[in-house]
Amino acid sequence: MILITGGAGFIGANFVLDWLAATGEPVVNLDALTYAGNLESLASLKDDPRHVFVHGDICDRTLLDRLFAQHKPRAVVHFAAESHVDRSIHGPGAFIKTNIEGTFTLLEATRAHWSALDADAKAAFRFHHVSTDEVYGSLSKTDPPFTEDHTYEPNSPYSASKAASDHLVRAWHHTYGLPVVTTNCSNNYGPYHFPEKLIPLMIVNALAGKPLPVYGDGQQVRDWLYVKDHASAIRAVLAGGRVGEVYNIGGWNEKPNLEIVHTVCALLDEMRPDPAGSYSRLITYVTDRPGHDRRYAIDARKVERELGWKPAETFDTGIRKTLRWYLDNGDWVARVQSGAYREWVATNYSERAADRKSA
Ligand code: NAD
Ligand code: DAU
Repeated sequence: MILITGGAGFIGANFVLDWLAATGEPVVNLDALTYAGNLESLASLKDDPRHVFVHGDICDRTLLDRLFAQHKPRAVVHFAAESHVDRSIHGPGAFIKTNIEGTFTLLEATRAHWSALDADAKAAFRFHHVSTDEVYGSLSKTDPPFTEDHTYEPNSPYSASKAASDHLVRAWHHTYGLPVVTTNCSNNYGPYHFPEKLIPLMIVNALAGKPLPVYGDGQQVRDWLYVKDHASAIRAVLAGGRVGEVYNIGGWNEKPNLEIVHTVCALLDEMRPDPAGSYSRLITYVTDRPGHDRRYAIDARKVERELGWKPAETFDTGIRKTLRWYLDNGDWVARVQSGAYREWVATNYSERAADRKSA
């Protein structure tokens, strides 16, 4: 069996569902259920004995030691993190705690477990660290996409904390021989995405007739990957990735934010027309994110060359599936928009309101 951290979050939950469907191998899922963790995303596994959920924190060494002793996982897949850049600007402390101290604590507990294994089990063991392209910093319009050798230049408290965690993982391999692999992935989208991030926020706001807040000029570029493709990439790297190596994962889908927002509006116009007119009437420019990275783009040739992994979805097929999912899962959306969610929306967007102007 494998131990997953953060498996009640967006990517973690999609990974657990994909993993059990593809491999059937049992999973222990450790998650602190912060605002971003949601067991409803795993409701289909409620009576499935292959999914063991543990409510707890990766900073809790005693709990980690108990889980390793009890379940003896053959691998760890580490998703748990604070993941939202805007929240890291408002409150970086939680990012330092979970992303750095939590990863350190998990590495130490994993090392204690791994050191006591016999030689074959030691060689077969893997610690898979799930990271982000944001650690590489920002590209200009003409720069080539990030390769695995790109310099680390994190610009936000979030990306700095993820960069620190990547360095810890690397050092635990280099110094202690822990068999690690790291994946640095571009922006994900798809089902169960918390509506604080661009695509789900635009969908839920549009359906509610609320403004669609575009930061700055909306020309920042992100490289989008359907979340189920990220899950299949992690499976491929866990199974065949070389120990100590880094693999960049991306969808070859670079798009400016404004184009994404227009695409969401156009598809909603087709799938759920609003008698009041096109959803694009709701597009509103607001104050930019401080230190906003201009462009991310991933060169995913290494994972394709070595492991034969390629995304299955184009942006067109993935975004249609995503919109269909949100239209069909209004209950999930309504339930995650709790009081805490509304407080965050007020914190993040009220101070931007002064600069609002319509598209
Ligand atoms: P998310 O915020 O949706 O989920 C994070 C999960 O981790 C939540 O379930 C939360 O409850 C849990 N968690 C937070 N702190 C914890 C702690 N101290 N102990 C245990 N659990 C804790 O994040 P996501 O978007 O699913 O991202 C998952 C991972 O993938 C993160 O490491 C992130 O940096 C990385 N990543 C995300 C993207 C993206 O586009 N979302 C892209 C590349 C990499
Ligand atoms: O690149 C991978 C990263 O992608 C992950 O490591 C992060 O965990 C994940 O949150 C994501 O970070 P971004 O900052 O790129 O994602 P976000 O959805 O917050 O923003 C995407 C772009 O859209 C970014 O340029 C900011 C912009 N934006 C975002 C929001 C929430 C807006 O214009 N308006 C908004 O309201």
